[in-house]
Amino acid sequence: MTSVTMTVNGKAVTKDIEPRMLLSTFLREELGLTGTHVGCDTSQCGCCVVHADGDSVKACTALAVQFDGASVTTIEGLAQNGTLHPMQEAFRDNHGLQCGFCTTGMIMSSVDLVKKAKEQGITIDEHYVREGLEGNICRCTGYHNIVKAVLAGAQSM
Ligand code: FES
Ligand code: FES
Repeated sequence: MTSVTMTVNGKAVTKDIEPRMLLSTFLREELGLTGTHVGCDTSQCGCCVVHADGDSVKACTALAVQFDGASVTTIEGLAQNGTLHPMQEAFRDNHGLQCGFCTTGMIMSSVDLVKKAKEQGITIDEHYVREGLEGNICRCTGYHNIVKAVLAGAQSM
């Protein structure tokens, strides 16, 4: 066992865990943050995306101990004081989901995608969004409404 400390959704947490524990397992099973979904466990589907120190990370293929001292945000940490994040609102308003399994990862990836584009002065168009979400797989939709949602969310972020 090894001790790991990180800030998750603004709260400091310390746990004794197996060094081999995945970040996704740590979030879901040690902290009960089940909004981080696990769809493939092989870095393909993007359901498990969280932010670590401001960057998107696929939590299913990272070890929790790698994030000792890091600041991690999961989907549960996006809404502030009961108000949904603009990207969450946009997914809801544009019907960017069906079963919702991929949605948390889609939203976390999209928030990072839009933030990086704005920081770097990149135009957020359909091509940028489709390319940026290549690592996120949805089994339900044709992606059309997801892309619409991200473009709408980008307007209000
Ligand atoms: S569960 Fe992590 S990429 Fe699929
Ligand atoms: S909404 Fe069902 S997997 Fe994407």
